[in-house]
Amino acid sequence: MCSKGLKWCLALQLLLLPHCFLETSIQGHSEKMVFAVSGSNVSLKISDLPDNPQRFTWFYTRNQKILEWESNNSSLYYFKTKFKNRVTFDHQDGVLYIYNVHKNDSSTYILKVLKDGLEDTWTIPLKVFDPVPKPVIKIKKIQKVNNSCHLILLCVILDQPVNCTWYGDSGLLPENLQRNALEITVMPENYSKFYTCQVRNPVSDNNDTISFTSACQLAQSSGVAWTAEFLVVMIPTIVGLLWI
Ligand SMILES: *[C@@H]1O[C@H](CO)[C@@H](O)[C@H](O)[C@H]1NC(C)=O
Ligand SMILES: *[C@@H]1O[C@H](CO)[C@@H](O)[C@H](O)[C@H]1NC(C)=O
Ligand SMILES: *[C@@H]1O[C@H](CO)[C@@H](O)[C@H](O)[C@H]1NC(C)=O
Ligand SMILES: *[C@@H]1O[C@H](CO)[C@@H](O)[C@H](O)[C@H]1NC(C)=O
Ligand SMILES: *[C@@H]1O[C@H](CO)[C@@H](O)[C@H](O)[C@H]1NC(C)=O
Ligand SMILES: *[C@@H]1O[C@H](CO)[C@@H](O)[C@H](O)[C@H]1NC(C)=O
Ligand SMILES: *[C@@H]1O[C@H](CO)[C@@H](O)[C@H](O)[C@H]1NC(C)=O
Ligand SMILES: *[C@@H]1O[C@H](CO)[C@@H](O)[C@H](O)[C@H]1NC(C)=O
Repeated sequence: MCSKGLKWCLALQLLLLPHCFLETSIQGHSEKMVFAVSGSNVSLKISDLPDNPQRFTWFYTRNQKILEWESNNSSLYYFKTKFKNRVTFDHQDGVLYIYNVHKNDSSTYILKVLKDGLEDTWTIPLKVFDPVPKPVIKIKKIQKVNNSCHLILLCVILDQPVNCTWYGDSGLLPENLQRNALEITVMPENYSKFYTCQVRNPVSDNNDTISFTSACQLAQSSGVAWTAEFLVVMIPTIVGLLWI
């Protein structure tokens, strides 16, 4: 019985051992991701840092140091990186300030702290986004069928379809999925006076709205764009009408 138990124990240890190695190799602490809009100033702050460390080293990537601070002679050294003249450091709280961030500053930053001869590591991911450009709602289809109106609206940025959240005058539209096209059929009693397409990224949002005066009638003030497909259908019709 005893030897059987021992075998189990050994087997269990063999199973658990790789975990022990994993634990020690992924030592260090990770902070929550920081989102920033390009052009802004960012501070990368680590919580629960030890007091009075001997050395701070901030890294942009695993093998690119940004700066190093040593407590014994209070030296702060900025390495020759693209951050030169764009970063400052506060050794009181270990915060790294980056000015005028660009999308290509996105990375998982690393802070190594030496204290009592032991080094500890923190990682903090930074993701920089440009502000979302203004989308434009384009009309792909607007068709009166008896009393109802069949609408297909497209949300585009620089003529590229983008997924967005669609709103009507009673709030979020039933098709609450992120879609680049909104296809709905409305009646005089349930049409929306406007349709808004909202695009978002973690740091900004933007939107466009078109207005209707009835189920199938655009408001005059709506600066409306039509899709090429729509024009292909419409222009021959108009030309045809002119000939009559
Ligand atoms: C970023 O910091 C610099 C220097 O303190 C300041 O001049 C600038 O206005 C700040 N920019 C923003 C977007 O806050
Ligand atoms: C400060 O400490 C570093 C090691 O952490 C050592 O290389 C350096 O010589 C020390 N400087 C002074 C002035 O003691
Ligand atoms: C502090 O120590 C560092 C590392 O030895 C050295 O490079 C730096 O010149 C020293 N700074 C001062 C002000 O003594
Ligand atoms: C990062 O973006 C800036 C601003 O556009 C540019 O000047 C710099 O060359 C870029 N750096 C890299 C490594 O792509
Ligand atoms: C439109 O109305 C007519 C007459 O009421 C009906 O016959 C026809 O099916 C309707 N069309 C559609 C698409 O509902
Ligand atoms: C929009 O969302 C759909 C479904 O989630 C996805 O397959 C598609 O790639 C997205 N399109 C864009 C332009 O983001
Ligand atoms: C409006 O009402 C019609 C008929 O009841 C229905 O088929 C349609 O789905 C409704 N549209 C919206 C956007 O609720
Ligand atoms: C659309 O943008 C305007 C400002 O540009 C903002 O006031 C409004 O709340 C936005 N609407 C939506 C639904 O995002």
